[in-house]
Amino acid sequence: MAKISAAITAVGKYVPDYILTNKELETYVDTNDEWITSRTGIKERRILKGEGLGTSYLAIKSAEDLIAKGNIDPSEIDMVIVGTATPDLPVASTAAYVASEIGAVNAFAYDLQAACSSFLYGMSTAASYIESGRYKKVLLIGADKMSSIIDYKDRATCIIFGDGAGAALFEPNEEGLGLQDEYLRSDGVGRDFLRIEAGGSLMPTTLETVQANKHFVYQEGKTVFKYAVSNMAEVSEKMLTRNNLTEKDIQWLVPHQANKRIIEATANRVGVGSEKVMMNIQKYGNTTSGTLPLLLADYENQLKKGDNLIFAAFGGGFTWGAIYLKWAYNS
Ligand code: UT7
Repeated sequence: MAKISAAITAVGKYVPDYILTNKELETYVDTNDEWITSRTGIKERRILKGEGLGTSYLAIKSAEDLIAKGNIDPSEIDMVIVGTATPDLPVASTAAYVASEIGAVNAFAYDLQAACSSFLYGMSTAASYIESGRYKKVLLIGADKMSSIIDYKDRATCIIFGDGAGAALFEPNEEGLGLQDEYLRSDGVGRDFLRIEAGGSLMPTTLETVQANKHFVYQEGKTVFKYAVSNMAEVSEKMLTRNNLTEKDIQWLVPHQANKRIIEATANRVGVGSEKVMMNIQKYGNTTSGTLPLLLADYENQLKKGDNLIFAAFGGGFTWGAIYLKWAYNS
């Protein structure tokens, strides 16, 4: 019997309609379009507006896009994983709600939180369930409503993040396509540099924590930047060397969209030109768990069966890693 690998067989996406431009941000904080564009590559991001709409709204829309495009019967989905750092509620799985809303009535569902590496780690989880033979259809969604945890008076963070979601379906493959190799890392040193201080078990919510703005994302940008550049580059290079690949064998680099300069540094280390680097940071900013699947959905038409893709991400924790995947279909 042929070895079973885990392939991505369909993708979907959703971004909200509202466009937050660099110009609009100039009215909130002391910044300017030139600085944001040259330091990050971001021109605009999407923001989910409207009462009562959380991350599940983004996740459901992206899953519905996948279901419609891929002509999938949601009742056949075995499992739904939602990678997110902004669950609808601190307790109660967002994924369980998403699964019910999309008609995945026979699935079980849970959230996976690894900050900006949530989708990357989720790929490993989804693939393992498929490779083991235990499940046949695993839906992995990366979704974040970052605007719910951003202080729009803090210019160090508000210029970077945006809202959005993407989804990918994993299924068994007997042609050797799908996930080939992974190298996932973490280092707890990171939580001093990128975190939300209050609202967890270490520092529960009080009037004082709210008044002291401790429920927003805090980031020491320069330090995170240095770790991100060196670690994303290192793990991406490792994916090539330990799989005996050269840059000529790689059709696409799929990097987390945190900063154009980090993406370029990773591409340089891997040795691929910009024509092989997926990038949509200019349109969406950093959507945390959403960046990788949003890239897949945006570039789906250009992907060909058998293409070699290197995914790389870096995020809070710290968490980071790279995955080597062979694309499984022509669209
Ligand atoms: O996805 C999760 C992981 N996150 C990341 O990978 C993000 C990593 N970090 C970054 O992308 C960058 O560090 C930032 C984009 C956050 C900041 O860029 P930077 O080049 O590291 O800027 P900086 O913090 O070193 O600041 C440089 C200068 C400072 O002014 P002085 O001290 O040189 O006079 C800042 O005060 O730019 C100033 N500055 C700004 N100016 C205009 C900082 N933020 C802004 C701003 N607009 N928004």
